[in-house]
Amino acid sequence: MSSETKKILVFAGSLRSASLNRKLAANVAQLAQQQGAQVTLLDLNEYPLPIYNGDIEDEGMPENVHKLQALFAEHDAIIISTPEYNGAVPALVKNTLDWISRKQANGDSGIKVLQGKVAGIVAASPGALGGLRALLALRDQLAKLSLWVAPTQFALGKASEAFDSQDELKDNQHKEKITQIINEVMRF
Ligand SMILES: Cc1cc2nc3c(=O)[nH]c(=O)nc-3n(C[C@H](O)[C@H](O)[C@H](O)COP(=O)(O)O)c2cc1C
Repeated sequence: MSSETKKILVFAGSLRSASLNRKLAANVAQLAQQQGAQVTLLDLNEYPLPIYNGDIEDEGMPENVHKLQALFAEHDAIIISTPEYNGAVPALVKNTLDWISRKQANGDSGIKVLQGKVAGIVAASPGALGGLRALLALRDQLAKLSLWVAPTQFALGKASEAFDSQDELKDNQHKEKITQIINEVMRF
């Protein structure tokens, strides 16, 4: 691996086993590897967190917050595959980012592990628009956390029909669009 190799953290904003966004995130991870990135595919099921509550934080930061902060800190960039819930980003994505923005184990603000990083954003939905409104909300949220969001984004509509029996994207144009996002993220 060269010193120029980009480390990208990819995760889906859904926990369910048959999640379309988890399938999309796995495709993103594979395509990013093909572009030469060093990729970590994060499963948020492995880092369960309560809904943010200042009382919980005051009692002692959940261990998974510090683990996630350390994981984010190790990477140059993130790519999120988000579902759309009622036109917005699901609570899981917001809650994860909110916890990560809190104090790190070394006392520094968690915002430091986010700011300046590059982000790519994709979404998947069984609906025709593919989660486009969630992407707009997520772009705004990430910008407020001082990440650079790649200009190209991808909303996979009719996502229930988009994957083959191996959970791979069937349409090469979809793969090309995702590769464009990955290249933007890596070029930054
Ligand atoms: C609470 C809730 C709200 C939803 N709102 C939307 C929506 O606004 N737009 C949309 O395209 N799909 C919406 N859906 C459908 C999701 O796109 C669909 O459940 C999708 O499969 C969730 O992502 P996942 O497969 O990665 O878990 C909603 C689903 C839930 C549970």
